[in-house]
Amino acid sequence: MSKQPIRAYSGIQPSGAPHLGNDLGAIRNYVALQENYESIYCIVDYHALTSVHDGEKLRRQTREMAAALIALGLDPNKCTLFVQSHRPEVQELAWILMTVTPVSWVERTPTYKEKKLQQADDINHGLLTYPILQAADILLPKASVVPVGKDQAAHLELSREIARSFNNKFGDTFPEPEAVFTTSPVVLGTDGEKKMSKSLGNTIDILGDPAVITKQVMGSVTDTKRPLKSDPGHPEACNVCQLHKLVSANYEELWQNERAALTGCADMKRLLAERLIAHYAPARERYNELLALPHEIDNILGDGAARLLPIVTETMREVKEKVGLA
Ligand code: TRP
Repeated sequence: MSKQPIRAYSGIQPSGAPHLGNDLGAIRNYVALQENYESIYCIVDYHALTSVHDGEKLRRQTREMAAALIALGLDPNKCTLFVQSHRPEVQELAWILMTVTPVSWVERTPTYKEKKLQQADDINHGLLTYPILQAADILLPKASVVPVGKDQAAHLELSREIARSFNNKFGDTFPEPEAVFTTSPVVLGTDGEKKMSKSLGNTIDILGDPAVITKQVMGSVTDTKRPLKSDPGHPEACNVCQLHKLVSANYEELWQNERAALTGCADMKRLLAERLIAHYAPARERYNELLALPHEIDNILGDGAARLLPIVTETMREVKEKVGLA
């Protein structure tokens, strides 16, 4: 089947091996989109520099994220997967876009305000410019569809405003990119309270050792209103039951058994761990295989960056001509 002539683009932070929340919230969506759209996925290492100041760590996490994306289903024959810094033209475009972006637009970005609190001792300039680089990512290949989580809504709105600002000054150049929000709900962490996230230490590491997955799942907070196993369970209020809804085809039956107190929280956790371990077994194997063959990962990423060269060269030629740099 031929693909629709629509270009999709998304960026993902090189935060190391993804957890369950990353897969359900974003990666599954990328894998689905590669079937129908011309899809470009970028591991955004320049963006990561705003928080990671450790070269060895950044290099390792970038490679881990690449291996994981491939292991979880991104197919380099169906999509383009590359590392942001391998196409440095994005920095040249970012600079030009900075000159059409009022400072007030970036200062009011909610993620900037959050980061200022999160890393109060490291409010570097990159944090402020972050969304302009993100706009450059998307506009460089003139992507029109951007699959992201809801947390990226403000960034996408800013990308649209920046495209509009450039077009107003220099004539129609960039499409205004549309966010496509993932339908999956926010995946809560093992604390049952906050969004699953590496920095909160509440993740289920799907590509990790089965013993680690078991430990993380068995340590999860479940139904806090059920002190005794003989009390009826409340699957709606239990994060482990909610995760079954996302990964178990027979979750309704499991929930019924919980309500009837036929099963207990530990049973639900054991089953969840077993199912996650089994479901991700092929991906885990492929992930470890790839990590042992770094040149294979490098080849795939090198191909991705090379494939983009003619596209970005054409955009930069047009942009430079319009602004007077050529
Ligand atoms: N800011 C995004 C995040 O934190 C990552 C990102 C960078 C991105 N560039 C992008 C997402 C371009 C979509 C499109 O998840």
